[in-house]
Amino acid sequence: MLSIVDFPQAYTKVHLPSKVALVVSRKPDHNYNLITVEWFMRTSIQPPQFAISIGHSRYSYDCLSDFGYFNLVLPSPELKPVLSLAGSNSGRDMDKFAASGVEFKPGKFQKIPILTEAIVNFECEIVSQVRSGDHTIFVGEVKYSWLNDEKEFFVYK
Ligand SMILES: Cc1cc2nc3c(=O)[nH]c(=O)nc-3n(C[C@H](O)[C@H](O)[C@H](O)COP(=O)(O)O)c2cc1C
Repeated sequence: MLSIVDFPQAYTKVHLPSKVALVVSRKPDHNYNLITVEWFMRTSIQPPQFAISIGHSRYSYDCLSDFGYFNLVLPSPELKPVLSLAGSNSGRDMDKFAASGVEFKPGKFQKIPILTEAIVNFECEIVSQVRSGDHTIFVGEVKYSWLNDEKEFFVYK
């Protein structure tokens, strides 16, 4: 039967499984923050660009507003604990990057860390942004793409 329902009732039915990613941003003190994001998508073929939607209450919003670069990290199953940590704690309260124990190396573009256990890292420069309700969509242009072809992609269920 087709009927009008409230938004959460409809969304719950289509929400999972879902692709999730990590975004690495730079803090004003030049350390790094991690956030788990579900709301990301490719938005341009040439040049390649991705949009990430970040809540205004997130510390990552402050970091991305301060330093206009980020790494979009497509995780492997090994990074599942990092997705949980980064998605349930704020960088305002703890150093998630250090606490996660992630393996990393400096990026080639703006030195934002590349997570070496991920399947893919995209180093991005923010080229535009648009407010969407209580989030802002940051559009990042991919400058360097990293692939670890020994890894698989993790899907959130
Ligand atoms: C699976 C999952 C997906 C999430 N997706 C998003 C998202 O797309 N955008 C967002 O702003 N927050 C998202 N969150 C919430 C943030 O990850 C969470 O609020 C985090 O603690 C914010 O960290 P920060 O304050 O250090 O930026 C998600 C959380 C989880 C667990």
